Amino acid sequence: MISEQRDRRVPGTARGRLRLLTGAVLLSTIAGSAWTDNPAVASEGPSFSAPITNVTVPVGREAILSCVVANLSTYKVAWLRVDTQTILTIANHVITKNHRIGVTHSEHKTWLLHIRDVRESDRGNYMCQINTDPMKSQIGYLEVVVPPDILDYPTSTDMVVREGSNVTLRCEATGSPTPNITWRREDGELIILGNSQEVASIDGPVFNITKVNRLQMGAYLCIASNGVPPTVSKRIMLVVHFTPMIWIQNQLVGAQEGQQMTLECHSEAFPKSINYWTRENNVIIANGEKYEPSFSDNVYKVHMKLMIRSVAMSDYGSYKCISKNSLGETDGSIKLYHIPTPTTEPTTTSTVPVPTTVDPVENIQWSRQKPVPSLEPSSNEITDASLSTVVRSEETRLRGRPSHEEGHEAENVIDTDSHKSVDSDVGQRRIDNTAQSMSSKSSTWHCLTRSSAAICIIVLSALS
Ligand SMILES: *[C@@H]1O[C@H](CO)[C@@H](O)[C@H](O)[C@H]1NC(C)=O
Ligand SMILES: *[C@@H]1O[C@H](CO)[C@@H](O)[C@H](O)[C@H]1NC(C)=O
Ligand SMILES: *[C@@H]1O[C@H](CO)[C@@H](O)[C@H](O)[C@H]1NC(C)=O
Ligand SMILES: *[C@@H]1O[C@H](CO)[C@@H](O)[C@H](O)[C@H]1NC(C)=O
Ligand SMILES: *[C@@H]1O[C@H](CO)[C@@H](O)[C@H](O)[C@H]1NC(C)=O
Repeated sequence: MISEQRDRRVPGTARGRLRLLTGAVLLSTIAGSAWTDNPAVASEGPSFSAPITNVTVPVGREAILSCVVANLSTYKVAWLRVDTQTILTIANHVITKNHRIGVTHSEHKTWLLHIRDVRESDRGNYMCQINTDPMKSQIGYLEVVVPPDILDYPTSTDMVVREGSNVTLRCEATGSPTPNITWRREDGELIILGNSQEVASIDGPVFNITKVNRLQMGAYLCIASNGVPPTVSKRIMLVVHFTPMIWIQNQLVGAQEGQQMTLECHSEAFPKSINYWTRENNVIIANGEKYEPSFSDNVYKVHMKLMIRSVAMSDYGSYKCISKNSLGETDGSIKLYHIPTPTTEPTTTSTVPVPTTVDPVENIQWSRQKPVPSLEPSSNEITDASLSTVVRSEETRLRGRPSHEEGHEAENVIDTDSHKSVDSDVGQRRIDNTAQSMSSKSSTWHCLTRSSAAICIIVLSALS
C-alpha cells in the first residue's frame, strides 16, 4: 500500500488534472447522470472487479469501504457520499474537510475509503466512481450500530410499595438497532406472576405486577440488548412493605419442671421487625441466666425462639412473641403448661409439646410451605387398633427412657380439659398393648390420638 503522505507529493501537472476531474465528477453528480455502469463500454478501459461489500461498524470504530477496479490506467477513483452528494476523495487526495476521512490503495486496484471514529451520521450509501466518459460507479452501504444504553430518566428507580398494590417497572434504552428489553431477577430465581405462574424472564419495556406480594420483593435487572456488545443492565430494587404476621406451630406446650424448653414463633414483616418475647406482665424477656431468646432472619422472615433453660413452677403460663415494624404490630401467644414430674425417673431435657390446631394469628400465605407428610405404616411401627394414627418407633424412642410400670401413665395425661378424657382413655389402652416398646412417661402418644398427630411428630423429629 502506498501511504497518503507519499501520494501527496504529486507533480504540478497531476494537480491540474485533478482539478479538472473534480469539476467533471461534480458535474456528473449534480446532473445525476450515468451513475450505473454502461455495459457497452465495460469491456474497454477500467472496470469494477467486485461490488462494494456493505460494512457494519459500531460507533467510534473505523469503517473501511473497499472498491476494487481493474485496468485503471490513468483514470482516477473517487469516493462520494451519496446522501449529501459530497466528494470525499479523488485518487490519493482527501477533498472533504472532514478530518476523519482517509483514502489508501494497493497497486491502484483496491481503493479503500477510511472513516475513523464513525458516528451515526456516517450511516448511509457511499459511491465509488471512475472518471471515464460516461463515468462508472457503484454503491455500498455503511451501517453504524450503537450498543444499548439504558436511559436513566424514564427507567424506574428503586421502589418501595405496600403489599397488594399494583407496580409498574419501566425500562427504556437507546441503541441501534432498537434494543430488546428483558427483565430478570438478580438472584436468578423465577419471577412470580400474579396468576401464580413462574417465569425466568419477561420481555418488554414495561413489567406490570398486579397486587404485588412479599415473594416478589427483590432486585430486578432490566437488560437491554441489541446484538451490539456490551449488553447493559440496570438494577431496580423492589421493596414490599407489609405489617408483621406471626405463625405459631404449637400454641400449647407442656413441660416438666427442670426441663429445658424452647418456645417458637415464626414472624414475617418488612421493613424488618423488632421481635421480642413477653410474659403476662408485658415485660420484655431479656437474655439471662434463665432465658435465651434467639432470632434468625432471612430478608423478611424471622424465626423467634425462647429457650427456658430449666423450667420452674413460675415459668408456667402464657408467653407472647411480638413482632413490630413501622406499619404495625402483631403478637402470638404460647401457653406453657405443667406436666407433673414422675417420682421414679430423672428429669430430662426433652420437651413435650402437645399439638394444638395450627392457629395462625393472622391468616397468611404459606404458599411455599411443604405439606405435612403423611405417615405411612412401616414395619417398625407400633400400631394400636384403637388409634387412628400410627407412629414410627424412631419417634417414640425420642423419649429415650426405659419403660416403667403402667400405673404412672394416667398421671401424665395433660391437663387441658378438652382433651383429658380421650387422652387418658386411649393412653390406658395404649399401655396395655405396647407396654414394653413404649416408654411409659412419654407423652408422644398423646399426639397420636388427635387429628393433628402429624404436626406433633414433626415437632418431635425436629427436636431430635
Ligand atoms: C484489461 O484490459 C485488457 C486490454 O486492454 C483486457 O484484455 C483485459 O480483459 C482487461 N481486464 C479487465 C479485468 O477488464
Ligand atoms: C447493501 O446494503 C443495501 C442497503 O441496505 C442493500 O440494498 C444491498 O443489497 C446491500 N448489498 C450487499 C452486497 O449486501
Ligand atoms: C390493580 O390491578 C387490578 C387488575 O388490573 C385492578 O383490578 C385493581 O383495581 C388495581 N388496583 C389498584 C390499587 O390500582
Ligand atoms: C401496565 O400498567 C399500566 C397502568 O398501570 C397500563 O397502562 C399498561 O397498559 C400495562 N402494560 C402492560 C404491558 O400490561
Ligand atoms: C429481540 O426480540 C425479538 C423478538 O423476541 C427477537 O426476534 C430478536 O432476535 C431480538 N433481538 C436481539 C438483538 O436480541
